[in-house]
Amino acid sequence: MPACSSPRTPRTPSGTPPPNRCACSSSACPPRCTSCTSRRSPRSGPPARGWTPTPSRRCAAATTSTRSPRFATSRPPPPPTGRRRRPEHKAAQMTTDRSSMDKIPLTHASLGERELAAVAEVFASGWPAGQGPSGKALEAGLKERYGAGGAVAVSNCGAALHLALLALGVKPGDEVIVADYTFPAPAHAVRYLDAVPVFADVRADTGTVDAQAVAALVTPRTVGIIAVDTVGIPADYTELQAIADRHQLFLIEDAACAVGATYQGRPAGALAEVACLSFHGRKGASSGEGGALIATDPDIAAAARRRASFGIGSIFDQGQVIGLPIPEFLEIGYNYKLSDIAAAIMQVQLERLEEFIAHRSAVAARYGELLADEELLTVPHVPADRTHAWQSYMVTLAKGVDRAAVATDLRAANIGSFHGTWASHVQPAFESKQVCPVSADLFQRNLGIPMHAELTMSQTERVAEVLRKAVRAHTTPRT
Ligand SMILES: Cc1ncc(COP(=O)(O)O)c(C=O)c1O
Repeated sequence: MPACSSPRTPRTPSGTPPPNRCACSSSACPPRCTSCTSRRSPRSGPPARGWTPTPSRRCAAATTSTRSPRFATSRPPPPPTGRRRRPEHKAAQMTTDRSSMDKIPLTHASLGERELAAVAEVFASGWPAGQGPSGKALEAGLKERYGAGGAVAVSNCGAALHLALLALGVKPGDEVIVADYTFPAPAHAVRYLDAVPVFADVRADTGTVDAQAVAALVTPRTVGIIAVDTVGIPADYTELQAIADRHQLFLIEDAACAVGATYQGRPAGALAEVACLSFHGRKGASSGEGGALIATDPDIAAAARRRASFGIGSIFDQGQVIGLPIPEFLEIGYNYKLSDIAAAIMQVQLERLEEFIAHRSAVAARYGELLADEELLTVPHVPADRTHAWQSYMVTLAKGVDRAAVATDLRAANIGSFHGTWASHVQPAFESKQVCPVSADLFQRNLGIPMHAELTMSQTERVAEVLRKAVRAHTTPRT
């Protein structure tokens, strides 16, 4: 497997705006669906579990709702209803009907009544800010779930990565080897500290970092490795840990997308000395925004928790002390706290995680059955020693397939799609001179198709059918 060349990345001033998170055009249906008799209010967000639309007037979210982790067999979309339109409005009306009835979003956060009830409890508690009772309960639950020395609830995974590097003592000029094929949060975090991200190429079959590439990039300035569980599939931690041990490097698991995955029987999030999770709205378990740092060493967790609150620790705790304690600011910290509102949502989401993973796995298995024989694309490979969290489902299109045209066809059929994830080394922000050919190739050829815990069987089948037709329609024969 080729390793990235040119391990050094020139440093640039920070401040470049982050790239858009994704080019996805999909979302859950609007708060109030104009073509249904929904009882959703603009405040209630995505449909709650058990929310049942009037059958003849389904809105987009309703078509994605199902109670069972097993697929619900959905009926074909009903014909447009309503009165006849005047001819000049016909085209616009058809568009509206189509988008409101047929849409299969790329992603959908399964948030419902239980999460709302948990939020109501936080409102009643009087402490909606961070590091309060709800945040502490989430941290205790995470610590237990991962058998960790400590868990810290933070505002997002990017913050967790930053805090991890600070706690591990990364200094300006240090080199940190990062997986290349990923949302480039790891490289951003390295740059926050004026350290140098060194991009390691990835395995072609899984998109996870290639351990041989990592080994080839170690220099006397290397201090650590950030592996990524790419869109939900764990990296090769046995090999990566061996490299880290051999060279006395730290190893961080970026498990942003992998909550619920496993590697050799262990949960993603417990595969390295520090792991960073994301609870962003596009992840498998979500509080809208959010994240966590999980550490085997309680001191790393304690340092991260302190820095996540401007270096002075829990303001809630200080409010419980009788007297007038005045904390001193002894170090530079950040406001990276997760609000107790989000923490309450996350506790419910983690209780529902198994159900989400079961449904996503069933969707992935069905896509696999339907698409495995299609020569113009490759379905994801999951090595036998690990399980996927299916944060995204990405197919790799054959060379010669016009990806943009395929995505256009999918979107024309009201099916969400996106490019997958990024080759970090080609992002201008990093001004890298490295080459990571496998990652660059996946960045050109991967395509994400709908994946979430409320996709129905018939939606999955429709996506596969439209995708198959599209790849066949947009292939240039190879000469
Ligand atoms: C691998 C990876 N790491 C980190 C992040 C950043 O997560 P967050 O949005 O919680 O900061 C993402 C976001 O998609 C990601 O995919």
